[in-house]
Amino acid sequence: MNNYKGCNYCLHYRRDGTCVAFDPGFIPITIASGQTKHIQPLPNQGNTIVYEPAGKSIFSRLDEYWMNNKLMRERIEVIEGDITQQQVDAIVNAANESLMAGGGVCGAIHRAAGLGLEEECLQLKVCTEGDAKITKGYNLPAKWVIHTVGPVWEGGRYEEHKVLAQCYRNCFALVEQYKIKTVAFPSISTGAYGFPVEKAAKIAVAETRRFLERNTSVEKIMFVCYEKQT
Ligand code: APR
Repeated sequence: MNNYKGCNYCLHYRRDGTCVAFDPGFIPITIASGQTKHIQPLPNQGNTIVYEPAGKSIFSRLDEYWMNNKLMRERIEVIEGDITQQQVDAIVNAANESLMAGGGVCGAIHRAAGLGLEEECLQLKVCTEGDAKITKGYNLPAKWVIHTVGPVWEGGRYEEHKVLAQCYRNCFALVEQYKIKTVAFPSISTGAYGFPVEKAAKIAVAETRRFLERNTSVEKIMFVCYEKQT
């Protein structure tokens, strides 16, 4: 493509014709030579040459992409605070396999929910790493508590990232099953279990996006961060 100048709408393409606006992973546009046609520049686009892929126009595809992103931003919220105070249908607990009150967020949830939660957890017996179980919320503002057991970080040698992703997926499976509309997550595994918070955050957001893209009835997923760094 000799006259190749890229797109004024998203500002640039790679030389191979792939759009790189924002996040290349999310833009499904490939403009290969031979599959493109010249289209008229839009007003205010000056003389920039824009190529349109065969099929759907790049403008409608970018509109779709931005609209999805906007909707996504409205459905994902990150706050600093205490998860036990959140007015949501369900909160997620970063639990241990015995489901008993420990320290961290787990201890806070058990203290705020009261003994009813511990009794129900005793009946559930155990929850294995990566799995999720649901109980009532008792004295919490939330109706449900989803308990999930994150991986203990061991330097990434045991595919801990896969287990953490599994935690989110299993929580979302319960969210769907119980028709929960709003849910708050703590930062699973990044406290006592030592998972690096930057890596964990990427997994949390990627799994949440994936879930929200296919589930349109969940209204809000909140990430409640207890400390600023998280
Ligand atoms: N609200 C929100 N987040 C909280 C709260 C709270 N009230 N209290 C603590 N946190 C944060 C921590 O600061 C950390 O960022 O939750 C994150 C997860 O930390 P942990 O609770 O230690 O959870 P995790 O790393 O998954 O370890 C689980 O810790 O307490 C034990 O019984 C628990 O054995 C299990 C282990």
